[in-house]
Amino acid sequence: MKAVVCPKYGPPEVLQFKEIEKPIPKDNEVLIKIFATTVNAADARIRGAVFPSMFNIPVRLFLGIRGPRKKILGVELAGEIETVGKNISRFKEGDQIFASTGADMSAHAEYVCLPENAEVAIKPTNMTYEEAAAVPHCALAALFFLNKGNIHNGQKILIYGASGGIGTFAVQIAKSLGAEVTGVCSTANIQMVKSLGADNVIDYTKKDLNQINGTYDIIFDTIGKSPISACGRALNKNGLYMLAVHMDLPRIIEGMKVSRKNKIKIIAGVAAYSVENLNYLKDLIESGKMKTVIDKNYTFEQIIEAHEYVDTGHKKGHVVITMNPITKS
Ligand SMILES: NC(=O)c1ccc[n+]([C@@H]2O[C@H](COP(=O)([O-])OP(=O)(O)OC[C@H]3O[C@@H](n4cnc5c(N)ncnc54)[C@H](OP(=O)(O)O)[C@@H]3O)[C@@H](O)[C@H]2O)c1
Repeated sequence: MKAVVCPKYGPPEVLQFKEIEKPIPKDNEVLIKIFATTVNAADARIRGAVFPSMFNIPVRLFLGIRGPRKKILGVELAGEIETVGKNISRFKEGDQIFASTGADMSAHAEYVCLPENAEVAIKPTNMTYEEAAAVPHCALAALFFLNKGNIHNGQKILIYGASGGIGTFAVQIAKSLGAEVTGVCSTANIQMVKSLGADNVIDYTKKDLNQINGTYDIIFDTIGKSPISACGRALNKNGLYMLAVHMDLPRIIEGMKVSRKNKIKIIAGVAAYSVENLNYLKDLIESGKMKTVIDKNYTFEQIIEAHEYVDTGHKKGHVVITMNPITKS
């Protein structure tokens, strides 16, 4: 089968197309024919070794010193179950599914095997493969953090990075849970963020966010660019500041000070994913409460171009890859 491998950390040009063995499912695995996948911020960061300086060594020890140990990137997909292992009961051949491949990545290939208990679920009936492929990684992360906030009706939440992969889903999930949502994005993305349901939008290119007005119950920074001190002031006492990206040392120190001074709680780190949450998202999508924003759609052969675009840090929602010529819709 055809796969894209990342032999070493570096710019998009390090990626190479290779013919490799098609995987064979074990008894507890399903073999998935991939119809669509994505290039997201995680793929670009791993490929480019963009790790926070204080975590550089531990992350390289975990992922690989000079290049990723898991050579095939790609953390999510949509496709069809081609074969099931003999102990599989949850899926059958021909099931249309969407999935997160998590730390094993491997979705930038024509086929992948995943264990039955991985984050695999039946694809939402009202989504194309391309739309569904973009859901698992970022929407599961958004849901994980928003669940930490125990969101309920009327709560005020500010979502920083509302136009990005996590942000576009976070706005919709928070709205579906009854929150009053303010999204932070640039001028070009205001209409898009409003169309996802945001009640208010702050244009970060026009407003100095060191002077955020208002009082929020939760601030969810999906991209790690919010000014922590200002967020501390804008949060209610006992408010919650959540960060989907790792904090570097100066930010950790600032966060500790702000947390003490403003009596707020801070949550940051890696999101935990579950099949239950993936099925929750499927229901949300099928009830019309969540959709995928696709910025650009590339063919598999154009995946290096897709990485170059994601590297700009300005994608709107998602960059998806159609596995030509085997796409179904
Ligand atoms: N914690 C976890 O478990 C977990 C899970 C998944 C992902 N992540 C991480 O979460 C991060 C975000 O991922 P993502 O896919 O959401 O990112 P992304 O889509 O690549 O973010 C790009 C978006 O951020 C916006 N943006 C850039 N600078 C901004 C600013 N100063 N203020 C407001 N918006 C700004 C851009 O809009 P403009 O072009 O208009 O500036 C663009 O729409 C990544 O680092 C990813 O690795 C963490």
